[in-house]
Amino acid sequence: MNKNIGIAKIVIAIDGPAASGKSTTAKLLAKKLGYIYIDTGAMYRAFTLKVLSENLLEQLLGDESRLRQFVEHTDVRLTDTQVWLDGRDVTEQIRSNEVSKLVSKISALKAVREKLSAIQKKLGEAKGVVMDGRDIGTAIFPNAELKIYMMASARERAKRRYAELKAKNADIDVSLDALEAEIKQRDEEDMNRAVSPLRKADDAVVLDTSSLTIEEQVERIYRLALEKINS
Ligand code: CDP
Repeated sequence: MNKNIGIAKIVIAIDGPAASGKSTTAKLLAKKLGYIYIDTGAMYRAFTLKVLSENLLEQLLGDESRLRQFVEHTDVRLTDTQVWLDGRDVTEQIRSNEVSKLVSKISALKAVREKLSAIQKKLGEAKGVVMDGRDIGTAIFPNAELKIYMMASARERAKRRYAELKAKNADIDVSLDALEAEIKQRDEEDMNRAVSPLRKADDAVVLDTSSLTIEEQVERIYRLALEKINS
């Protein structure tokens, strides 16, 4: 480990489309650097899980004051390896495909974004963080010392997500083609929403991971991080 890491702490922002490998990479990178990892997608997923399980979608989309009330009364927290929704551990549940299909609609809501953005900015205040999401380099930490935009072909991303879902539940009824279509649809929604859409920050380094292993991805960003830390 680099001897200077304990001295200089930077913010590393990793953005990119669905299933591009951000979370896995960011988690390993944070460990290697002794930094905190913040999965902002998990926060939007937790909100979405609540909307789904309480069957609130119709009500919330049509009623701004009801939405504000809902947001105010929803508590989302991240601990080291877990995601908490109103005091319950929802770490596993938020990864379901039902949540993935709805999350872009919920994350496009201004009231939801305002609440989660404020939490994320606070979490990164002390630096020494790797934060991944869609708008980290553009809206949450526009001054982050290192910004990465991770991408891969939609087919490759669908294959990865398929393997992930199958590994968790071999009987799951999902096809690769359907997953690819869902991923494209989610990117479309994330890139075209009014508030903080997904886009590459002008000063982000693009990393195409289509033919990289996780270890290679981590190593590349790690080297870039060391350059920034030591500069
Ligand atoms: O892991 P995966 O790529 O499937 O997605 P995620 O990082 O868990 O994010 C899930 C969804 O949350 C995204 O599709 C976005 O709609 C939303 N999101 C966002 O709007 N802004 C962020 N900073 C992070 C996620």
